[in-house]
Amino acid sequence: MKQLKFGVIGCGEISAATCIGLAASPYTSIAMLMDTRAEALADLADLYSVPTTTDPDAVFTNPDVDAVYIATPHFLHVSLGIRAAKAGKHVLVEKPIATTLEDADKLIMACDKAGVKLGVAYYNQVDDGQRQAAELVRAGVLGDIISVRLNAAANKPASYWQGGYSQRVKADWRTSKAQAGGGILLMNVSHELNAVRFVTGLEVTRVYAESDTLATNIEVEDTIGVVMRYANGAIGVIQAGSAMHGGEYQTLGGPRIYGTKGQLILNPSGTLLKPMIYMSAPAEGSNPGEWKELFFVGKAADRQAIVEGFAKAVLNDQQPPCTGIDGYKALEIVLASYRSSELHQPINLPL
Ligand SMILES: NC(=O)c1ccc[n+]([C@@H]2O[C@H](COP(=O)([O-])OP(=O)(O)OC[C@H]3O[C@@H](n4cnc5c(N)ncnc54)[C@H](O)[C@@H]3O)[C@@H](O)[C@H]2O)c1
Repeated sequence: MKQLKFGVIGCGEISAATCIGLAASPYTSIAMLMDTRAEALADLADLYSVPTTTDPDAVFTNPDVDAVYIATPHFLHVSLGIRAAKAGKHVLVEKPIATTLEDADKLIMACDKAGVKLGVAYYNQVDDGQRQAAELVRAGVLGDIISVRLNAAANKPASYWQGGYSQRVKADWRTSKAQAGGGILLMNVSHELNAVRFVTGLEVTRVYAESDTLATNIEVEDTIGVVMRYANGAIGVIQAGSAMHGGEYQTLGGPRIYGTKGQLILNPSGTLLKPMIYMSAPAEGSNPGEWKELFFVGKAADRQAIVEGFAKAVLNDQQPPCTGIDGYKALEIVLASYRSSELHQPINLPL
């Protein structure tokens, strides 16, 4: 079987997990590992027996590399992605695509110009449950969408800000407005914004946000509330925080989508739960008034699904499941929310 050979750029917390997927998928393989810190390379080099380097040019000039997977701090995604594109490598970039819309545009245009594919590593478009949910919603099973609710009550430990959950790499970029671009909304909720956009096809047209850093010694927000208006008139709310003691006790699942006939609860991104559906009106496979798991063929998305979805698209010369434009759109809602909070006024989209 033809494989897409990846150069991995940035070998920290998430790359260690992504490499498992790259090695497991019949569609992908690891050709080279790169990180500016040699210590982040040692264990992965042992595991995968591939060449390593601390110089990104060694990846860009390596003829064995077809595509790069970029999993660095956010502010570096675009400059590395553009260099890869110019070298003729396909680009799978971790979320968020960039920290500004101007930068996101530059990366999208550089990949277009170079004739290489650009994908963003969100789970939703390759999650079979969310794909089935998208088909149902777009077929009108829920009726008209009237409301959306996104909740992310995380209780991130102090150590997270100095080295992520795993402490694999000690670094404080997640605390920095310039390097991370944002806090919980950008870092985590952008997955769910991408999910709702993918499942409903609806664009956000206005946001009003209140955002602050109330309980953590960091530059980015740790507490945020956003009200969103969608193109069809639906109204959405986001409540998110990274210092929420007790976390999500007894809250079921991810984003909720409310229609005139029923409700859908998506699985939180990257979890193996199944979406749940509730129909008030009679519908095939559903008894009115009963919650049930969505039936779908396939599996919930993991790291392998992300890299495999991208690789299949490149190998078949198709659009990646989550495109640069999808990444741009998720980022736009986040940045509009930050601007709204700074200016204390509603912000219309597109920006
Ligand atoms: N899709 C997901 O669910 C998910 C989960 C976690 C993180 N992420 C994303 O993955 C990216 C990385 O996050 P992380 O948690 O792995 O961070 P991390 O700090 O653990 O790892 C980042 C790595 O990049 C390296 N690096 C820094 N500058 C570099 C450069 N110029 N060239 C090459 N490497 C460089 C660092 O040395 C480090 O090893 C972020 O975009 C983050 O949002 C995605």
